[in-house]
Amino acid sequence: MAGTTKHARLLAWIDEIKELVQPDKVYICDGSQDEYDRLSAQMVASGTLIALAKRPNSFLARSDPRDVARVEDRTFICSTSKNDAGPTNNWMNPAEMKKKLHGLFAGSMHGRTMYVVPFSMGPLGSHIAHLGVQITDSAYAVVNMRIMTRMGQGALDVLGDDGDFVPCVHSVGKPLVAGEKDVAWPCNPEQIHIAHFPDSREIWSFGSGYGGNALLGKKCLALRIATVMGRDEGWLAEHMLILGCENAQGERTYVGAAFPSACGKTNFAMLVPPAGFEGFKVFTVGDDIAWIKPGKDGKLYAINPEAGFFGVAPGTGAKTNPNAIATLTKNCIFTNVGLTDDGDVWWEGLTDAPPAHLIDWKGNDWTPEKNKDGKSPAAHPNSRFTAPASQCPSIDPKWEDPQGLPISAFIFGGRMSKDMPLVFQAFNWSHGVYLAATMGSEATAAAVGQAAMRRDPMAMLPFCGYNMADYWTHWLNMGRRIPNPPRIFRVNWFRKDANGKFMWPGFGENMRVLKWILDRVQGKGFAVESPLGWMPRYEDLNWNGLEYDKNKFYELMSIGREAGTAEAHAHEELFDKFFDRLPKEFIYERELLRSRLWRSPDHWELAHEA
Ligand code: OXD
Ligand code: MN
Repeated sequence: MAGTTKHARLLAWIDEIKELVQPDKVYICDGSQDEYDRLSAQMVASGTLIALAKRPNSFLARSDPRDVARVEDRTFICSTSKNDAGPTNNWMNPAEMKKKLHGLFAGSMHGRTMYVVPFSMGPLGSHIAHLGVQITDSAYAVVNMRIMTRMGQGALDVLGDDGDFVPCVHSVGKPLVAGEKDVAWPCNPEQIHIAHFPDSREIWSFGSGYGGNALLGKKCLALRIATVMGRDEGWLAEHMLILGCENAQGERTYVGAAFPSACGKTNFAMLVPPAGFEGFKVFTVGDDIAWIKPGKDGKLYAINPEAGFFGVAPGTGAKTNPNAIATLTKNCIFTNVGLTDDGDVWWEGLTDAPPAHLIDWKGNDWTPEKNKDGKSPAAHPNSRFTAPASQCPSIDPKWEDPQGLPISAFIFGGRMSKDMPLVFQAFNWSHGVYLAATMGSEATAAAVGQAAMRRDPMAMLPFCGYNMADYWTHWLNMGRRIPNPPRIFRVNWFRKDANGKFMWPGFGENMRVLKWILDRVQGKGFAVESPLGWMPRYEDLNWNGLEYDKNKFYELMSIGREAGTAEAHAHEELFDKFFDRLPKEFIYERELLRSRLWRSPDHWELAHEA
């Protein structure tokens, strides 16, 4: 019925936290279907979940409207030295933070159950995987963790009597006094603290029940703490999807691709090749996180440490991502989407026409009229689905291979409505690391309070658990230590024309860009040297099945000297923050970029007939 363990250190830690948080009950999760069903039924009864008539074993949750996204300004890296957290992280002295947390957590689980959630990031027993144990007072977090990780007795068994685990403590921060009725989504938004201790490798999260703030295996362990493990042990933990693309000859090539949160990673990971690509297939390995380790043969091998998708719902539809839609038919949890009158979910972009009436993410009556100005969508822009990866029709047959899959290319792409071309390839590894490190992106809803445009190095700005400059150095070293590192590419699906219209159709059509990337890594694709990197000409892309004007393509690929120079200048602003920790290579890469732009025409276009 409940998980069992004889792990003395784990049991002692459970006792210690119990003493601190004073729960009514302690329950060790076994991860069984029965347990999941019991907890879901309990949450349906208490009003936290609504069972969906139209989707078997699926539920809708509505959060407190003050608790809807990751909170970056309440996220802390508490390394012993402030410099080790670096200028892009919030730092607090670990002893001070511990003191503060102990105050917050004291009695924080009064009137609640303290769940102990053992989990593995990565296939159970894989040498690339790591174990964590999350203590939480949120049953919602427990059922989500069961979808997102390998959770329960299996993880306890791998842990054995003395295995290592990352301790993760989570409380929604809303103790109940005797007789107090609970709310549907308890949280404590004024006191949110998401604290990471890289030196002792532990995580404490208080006040929020949402996404990455509460499912601690994901951003906290698999990225922030794992980046530190990777630095110390010689591997990479990245905010990357992993996909495999098979050609007509049955050869499969794997790539890792990093895009900032809510910039289409899930869609790209599940891409369906368009007409004109008969014989090609794309297989999904992961949609958010990759752990990448050098193999004995000198190649980099990646695993997806997660077991599910925690994807952004709005914009996901049968046209944009049919594989995601097919994944969501059963066994899913939806958070902050609309509820239709017949007991199904709906969000902007699920269908072309909205239902005539539904209940919106705040629990109010909603009609399309209400959102005439675009300010009152039925679903919150950061509403999510939690879905088992195994249900995805495009899941790679080897997605759980404990050895990982060999990566041939890294793709980096921000959301840039201006100036940044569709695709180009780095001249070499250090140039590629530079391109990834200087990636800029426009704001999305995945975290509250983002600036309109921000530098998001490797799409890791909120997820790197140590000094970003040291992380860049680690990247440079990783490429140097292996004989034939993956090739590096920059892409941008989001460039707009003078009328504000997207210039590139995106989604399945991104296959055209992916194919060129694969051609390049296989030594088959042609490219021209541009001031930014190697670029395809019009004739180097496969246009079968799509009419795309040649001149529009050249405009899409063009580089403005002034804008490019301003961009290079802006890199300096980023670099200045790091003083002497900045890798020297970056200073030279920036100067080379400026020189190439300096010698190029005002408006650089690939050579073509007028
Ligand atoms: C996510 C994110 O939830 O990046 O994946 O915010
Ligand atoms: Mn993400």
